Amino acid sequence: MDSRAPRAPQNKGMSAVRGRLFAFVREPMGHGDGGSYRYIEDGLILIDEGKICTVGPAATLVASLPSDCAVAHYPDCLIMPGFIDLHIHLPQVQMIASFGAQLLDWLETYVFPAEAKFADPVHAATNARFLIDELFRSGTTTAVTFGSVHRQSAEALFEEADRRGACMIAGKVMMDRSAPDSVLDTAQTSYDDSKALIERWHRRGRLRYAVTPRFVVTSSDAQMAAAKALFDEFPDTHLQTHLSENLGEVALVKSLYPWARDYVDIYDRYDLLGPRSLFGHCIHLDDNELGRLSESGSVAVFCPTSNLFLGSGLFNRSRMKEQATPITIGLATDVGGGTSFSMLRTAAEAYKVLQLRGQNFSALEAMHQITRGNAVALGLQSEIGSLDLGCYGDLVVLDTRATPAMAHRMAAWDGAIEDELFVLMTLGDDRAVRATFVQGRLAHDRDDRNNIRREQAEMRI
Ligand code: GUN
Ligand code: ZN
Repeated sequence: MDSRAPRAPQNKGMSAVRGRLFAFVREPMGHGDGGSYRYIEDGLILIDEGKICTVGPAATLVASLPSDCAVAHYPDCLIMPGFIDLHIHLPQVQMIASFGAQLLDWLETYVFPAEAKFADPVHAATNARFLIDELFRSGTTTAVTFGSVHRQSAEALFEEADRRGACMIAGKVMMDRSAPDSVLDTAQTSYDDSKALIERWHRRGRLRYAVTPRFVVTSSDAQMAAAKALFDEFPDTHLQTHLSENLGEVALVKSLYPWARDYVDIYDRYDLLGPRSLFGHCIHLDDNELGRLSESGSVAVFCPTSNLFLGSGLFNRSRMKEQATPITIGLATDVGGGTSFSMLRTAAEAYKVLQLRGQNFSALEAMHQITRGNAVALGLQSEIGSLDLGCYGDLVVLDTRATPAMAHRMAAWDGAIEDELFVLMTLGDDRAVRATFVQGRLAHDRDDRNNIRREQAEMRI
């Protein structure tokens, strides 16, 4: 968080947010690593044309603010970079909380029928709007999102994200087998549709494309090759998929790919590993598989609420970090296998999963993960995840006394910022998100009653 003098007063695009500023400058080494973050008790962030241009103590900056610059002041709130969700499914936002199944049955019983409805562009648009509203309500300003197999699902998502100024990395799912026809494409149409989407949306504003083969169970050889062809043809796209989530899935994969040494080996043989590849779940991996993820720089995405809800297993964070080259880890909601849109709830459940593994997940590590850590996992740390100059003015304003339980707990607060962050991640959810700013513009205001009523009236889907 450098500070420098505010720019000239005549710029109409300027806005400012004032409060208790908190952001990471590097990865924390664990509890008590005070050098990993900057905290300004009464700070001001000045945003020009959507990007942060000045950060520093309010006392030194307020007097020189441009006269027409609106200042949103949140005296008791923590202001952090907007949260980043590394794995979420648009077509699952209305089948979240579906009862009683584990991965493969859950996909068949609930997910594929829900995803089939996204052939309808109106349904896709309504749900895209709902998703982005819900992300902003949760303080999330960047999401890596799976569409359905239908091209129009990704169109709807990109259109809505673009309109709202959000950073969105997304793709239409590629799947050409082992599912009902209503959610299948072919190797050729998946290539053609993905390519058309990339050409239309990739790097338009804040949008980026992720080539999205669902997982090896639902893609033929030809489709995996098509995914690779797209990834080669457009080398600055990301790739998102699923890996080793559930033991039944792992056994099925083994039977489908007798030639493969293990699950990771399949993606490896299609040459899909690498720093731009985001693998959801990564639970049941052996040493060899972890070694390949490490060597290739691939990203393992931890989805704790989903892993608990679907009974998939316990992510082993320490083992990933103990590799010769530590595996880059991301954290994500995975709605609708995941049960909350909130990255705070997600961090809290990650803490509990890791407790069951005998591992610690400090508040500093957790809050870093959902901001700068996920930005690093995307290679986007110069744009999002921090309050550095030149980053987008994507901010979450957090009220650590948002509920009676939080206020009561905070009345016994020891005054240490780490303690406050731990209360926030353990007890907080969307109620703790006082406001969300996207590119310096107010995108969600928790206490705006008119806004809530309007949303309720409009969101009957
Ligand atoms: N594996 C393949 N598809 C999915 C999905 O939609 N959700 C989860 N959690 N795992 C998957
Ligand atoms: Zn998923």
